[in-house]
Amino acid sequence: MCGIVGYIGQKNTKEILLEGLKELEYRGYDSAGIAVLQDGDFTNYKAVGKLVNLEEKTKDFVTESFAVGIGHTRWATHGKPTELNAHPHLGESSYVVHNGIIENYASLKKELTQKGVTFLSQTDTEVIVHQFEKNLKNSPDTFEAFSKTIKELQGAYAILLVTKSEPDTIYFAKHGSPMLVGVNKENEKYFASSDTPLIGHCQKVNYFEDGDYGYVTPDETAIFSKNGTKKEPHFCELSQNKLSAQKNGFRFFMEKEIYEQREVIADTLMGRLSEDAILFDELESSLFEGIKEIKLCACGTSYHSALCASYLFERYSKIKTSVEIASEFRYRKPIMTKDTLFIVISQSGETADTLETLKMAKEAGLKTLVICNVDNSSMVRLAEASILTRAGIEKGVASTKAFATQVVVFWMLSLYLAKLTNALEKSEIAKQIALLREVPASCAVTDNMHERIKRLSKRYLHGHGFFFIGRDIFFPLALEGALKLKEISYLHAEGYPSGEMKHGPIALADPELFTIALLPQHLLYEKSKSNVEELSARDSTICAISPLEFDKADDFIPISTCRDYMLEFFEMMVVVQLLSLEISVRLGNDVDMPRNLAKSVTVE
Ligand code: G6P
Repeated sequence: MCGIVGYIGQKNTKEILLEGLKELEYRGYDSAGIAVLQDGDFTNYKAVGKLVNLEEKTKDFVTESFAVGIGHTRWATHGKPTELNAHPHLGESSYVVHNGIIENYASLKKELTQKGVTFLSQTDTEVIVHQFEKNLKNSPDTFEAFSKTIKELQGAYAILLVTKSEPDTIYFAKHGSPMLVGVNKENEKYFASSDTPLIGHCQKVNYFEDGDYGYVTPDETAIFSKNGTKKEPHFCELSQNKLSAQKNGFRFFMEKEIYEQREVIADTLMGRLSEDAILFDELESSLFEGIKEIKLCACGTSYHSALCASYLFERYSKIKTSVEIASEFRYRKPIMTKDTLFIVISQSGETADTLETLKMAKEAGLKTLVICNVDNSSMVRLAEASILTRAGIEKGVASTKAFATQVVVFWMLSLYLAKLTNALEKSEIAKQIALLREVPASCAVTDNMHERIKRLSKRYLHGHGFFFIGRDIFFPLALEGALKLKEISYLHAEGYPSGEMKHGPIALADPELFTIALLPQHLLYEKSKSNVEELSARDSTICAISPLEFDKADDFIPISTCRDYMLEFFEMMVVVQLLSLEISVRLGNDVDMPRNLAKSVTVE
């Protein structure tokens, strides 16, 4: 969580830091700050709320000559989102920015306080800078003091520190939270917690590994591994495509990303389909040798796509599959057997809880696979194998296209496995592949559909709650629809299996309870219809999404008549995404940066 940037060079440091933070703002936007060391003096600005507030505060601040700067955009963990709690945090002559959690901060803080140090903030981060300055007083060498400090920290972190004692240097450390450094021909150095701020500035980047720490000056990039040995930087090419990170005329990134699903799914399928086989060049068949079971682990939207996968794996690949919420799995001392393939799913590849389960599985000797949207992310680097979802940069905090591509990858993977295990006839695999080719078209947004949803949305701005209901794989879609609505409209919504309503939730039914019913023609239609009729009989307001007209519904959003339930799945997915979007727009909410959320959750 949070975003970090750093810069060493001659250019306009303030602008570079602010631009970088803008790229990362989706990661946290409670408050932001920068600190710039220029001609031996620090200048520091902080502002609560979105980045525009910091831009406003710094509008008269000019940086024209050589400077060293760090910046941060925050998603509060320890301490409220106030200016005092915003980073960078100051010691006597140093500033620090940090992403992650310092788990032993309370004991360090106690010791420092007893030695007379005054703390200004409630954050865990502030101990880093005071601990460093304490060590600096007892050491002739700045780097030695920094190294000692890092060894004294427990927890997860990405840290940048600047100090007056070495005014052309940024000290860094990475453990559990992502960070990279980029270089260019003009001898500038850029730091960030993800690669987007570096695009256009650097051609080559080094992704730090867990345990790395060191320092960077205009002439040197010194990296040390956890055990203190110096290592060579490993620079790789940075892709320069930033176009996809812009709104392209849409009102919101989320809207653009919903419309984009058609193309990104086509990209996800590209080169991976033959007539009767799925081709995953990135996978070795040995990954599946001896595998009797699959366990999927993820958080949030990715957890919902994992639930979808469990239906597909059991139905098509005939492999026993279970799904876990990562934050639960971590601490319940799970039984892990080596005949289980452990799959983690993550848009970002950085979610702390999911990453931790991957580490657990690796330690237990399981084979691991990650389904991820970000190449070079921590999970991709850690897992034995990876499949990239190719959704492109997703900026809206509420995930849409990442989910769509995850489900497509799982559908493909279920067929890939079906072939390996001989679970499906060749002709059935070929039929499924033909269906997969139709998914991009099923995700196209038509003007008619969008207009209808826009118009209907005005009837769903109040009430005491929403139930999204569906059966089979439409149940995780119902969960995802409810999550989308919650995230951006702040209305209470739940996803439920249609058949489960009568076991409790139906007690809530009245005209102010809105039921969004997913009624596919090709999967349990009659059974789902009866469940909706039960709700209709109790006067719940019903909005049915189906290819078949349904006279018991108050509202009806038609999807086209498709030849398979999975194509209906993708059409309905677009409908529930757009419905959430339009309700949120009418309520005047910030669609792309909803309150209290962050795009990438790198703290547990
Ligand atoms: C955050 C985001 C969600 C996302 C979840 C998991 O909570 O707001 O949209 O689904 O993290 O993220 P991941 O990157 O692991 O898919």
